[in-house]
Amino acid sequence: MTKVLIVNGSPKMEKSNTFATITPLIVGMKKAGASVELIYTKKQKIFSCTGCFSCWYETIGECVIKDDMQNIYPKLREAEILVLATPVHSILPGGMQNFINRLIPLIEPILEFRNGRTRAKCHEYVKITKILAVIVGGWYEIDNLYLPVKLIEELSKNYSINFSGAILRPHAYFMRSDSEKSKEILLKLEDVGFKFIEEGLLNKEDLDFISQPVFEEEEYRRSKTNIYLERKNQT
Ligand SMILES: Cc1cc2nc3c(=O)[nH]c(=O)nc-3n(C[C@H](O)[C@H](O)[C@H](O)COP(=O)(O)O)c2cc1C
Repeated sequence: MTKVLIVNGSPKMEKSNTFATITPLIVGMKKAGASVELIYTKKQKIFSCTGCFSCWYETIGECVIKDDMQNIYPKLREAEILVLATPVHSILPGGMQNFINRLIPLIEPILEFRNGRTRAKCHEYVKITKILAVIVGGWYEIDNLYLPVKLIEELSKNYSINFSGAILRPHAYFMRSDSEKSKEILLKLEDVGFKFIEEGLLNKEDLDFISQPVFEEEEYRRSKTNIYLERKNQT
């Protein structure tokens, strides 16, 4: 049974667009026989990395910060697939950034020079073979989502773990609407979750379907601006 660990970085947790996007994905993964554990960075006390490098050179493989990451490290040792699911907050919300930085004890710091870049590998006990990103953004254009994708891709390369790609949903509040289109996208996400466990891959056509624009840009901009102007005029 494939073990999947999903980390939801939205501070809004179950009320988040991230949650709406990953819920059908999880259903699909479970239907394909995976065991899936979901954690929220917001529910965990995850301090920022102090950069002491004790985990590299002194307490090898172990972080000296005593917080909830100590309960998450055993889960990271068990997982075969790591899913980082997050909204864009300029780049990442603080909790998700802290979580990513605190992954550094997983690395064995035998540094290699590969394709012009310094890269490392994980300790042997790490079983994660794939990292998948799920990124949601509020603004209209999909380009707003590329910075977190790049960050997670780089993370995967630094750790020598296969980056499986990214599921992207711009103007993501739409995912919690009741429209026919959002239902179709939710169904597609379930299908993608199933296929990802069965085949280990994401398919471009499916990804494009999930990310498709669902309003005209002008309609999006006008409606968002009007919400603000109405509130401003009431005050
Ligand atoms: C501080 C902050 C920065 C944000 N920056 C961006 C951004 O650069 N691009 C974007 O598309 N959305 C941005 N957003 C909007 C969120 O990505 C959007 O509201 C998202 O749907 C929230 O997801 P959630 O409900 O899962 O938390 C930002 C939101 C916040 C609070």
